[in-house]
Amino acid sequence: MRHLMTPMDFSVEELDKLFDLASDIEKNPEKYAHKCDGKKLATCFYEPSTRTRLSFETAMINLGGSVIGFSDAGSSSAAKGESVSDTIRVISCFADICAMRHPKEGAPMVAAGRSGIPVINAGDGGHQHPTQTLTDLLTIRALKGRLDNFTIGLCGDLKFGRTVHSLVNALARYSNVRFVFISPEELRIPGYLRDMLWDKAITFKEVIRLEDVMGELDLLYMTRVQRERFFNEEDYVRLKDFYILNKAKMDLAKEDMLVLHPLPRVNEISVEVDDDPRAVYFKQVQYGVYVRMALILTLLELV
Ligand code: NCD
Repeated sequence: MRHLMTPMDFSVEELDKLFDLASDIEKNPEKYAHKCDGKKLATCFYEPSTRTRLSFETAMINLGGSVIGFSDAGSSSAAKGESVSDTIRVISCFADICAMRHPKEGAPMVAAGRSGIPVINAGDGGHQHPTQTLTDLLTIRALKGRLDNFTIGLCGDLKFGRTVHSLVNALARYSNVRFVFISPEELRIPGYLRDMLWDKAITFKEVIRLEDVMGELDLLYMTRVQRERFFNEEDYVRLKDFYILNKAKMDLAKEDMLVLHPLPRVNEISVEVDDDPRAVYFKQVQYGVYVRMALILTLLELV
C-alpha cells in the first residue's frame, strides 16, 4: 500500500504518468465518472482549508465515490485527546483512502505508519504540501508544455511556506531549472533546501527586491506570509505587506511569464493583476481537481 507524504514519494517517471492521467481526465471526464463507485474518501482536516479539502471532495465525487470526514479538529475526538495513530485506525474501518491535514509536521506520516488505507498528506505544519505541488507541476506542464529549462522565482514566506518546500524539492529533479528566492531576510528558505540545491549543483540565488529580478523569470510563484506559524504578531504585521505584486511590477516581466499562487491570497497580489492573462492562479485550482482525481485512482490502484 502506498501513501503520499512528499512529492519525492513518486519518481519523475511516475509523476509523468500521473500527469498524463490527469490530462486524460480533463479531456474525457465521463470515462472516469464511475471509477470509484462504492469507494469512500475520508478528509481529516485538523487545520483550516478551502481549496485542498473541497478539491479532494470534488475529485472523489467526480469519480463516483463519496466522502466522509471533519474540517475542524475541535469537532473530532482530537478534542478529547485522541492521537492521530488511533484516529487513523478508526478511519481505516470506514473509508478506503484518507487525506489528512495537520498543524504538526510529520503527523500524517505517523498516521500512515498505523493506517490500513492509503494516507495523503494534505499539508503538515510548515513542512510539506505534496498535492499542492502536484497541482503546481500539472499547471506548469499544461500551460508551459514542459517541466524543465526555466527560471522560477519564489516570492514571499519561503521559511514557513510548505508549498514552497515541496515545490523546490520536486523541481530540483528536472533539468536546467534555476531558482530565484525572493524574500525578506527573516523569511529565507530553510537551510536544508539550500544544502540540497548546493549538493545537486543547481543554480539559485536569494534576493530581497522583486523588481530586481522580474525580467529574468519564466514563472513567478507568489506566497502569503504564514501568519499562523509566526511566534509573535508584531513580526507578522511588519512583514505581511513586504511584497505586493501589481500592474507596474508585471510590466517588468516577460510577456509569457506565468504567475502562480497556491492561494489563499491576502495582499501579496493586487486584484488588478487578476485580469492579466499571465495570472493563472485560479486556473491552478482547476488543475488541482484533475491531479487529485489521478492521485486517488493511482493510490487505490484503479488504473
Ligand atoms: C496553502 C497551504 O495550506 O499551505 N494553501 C493551499 O493548500 N492551497 C498555502 C497557504 O495557506 O498559504
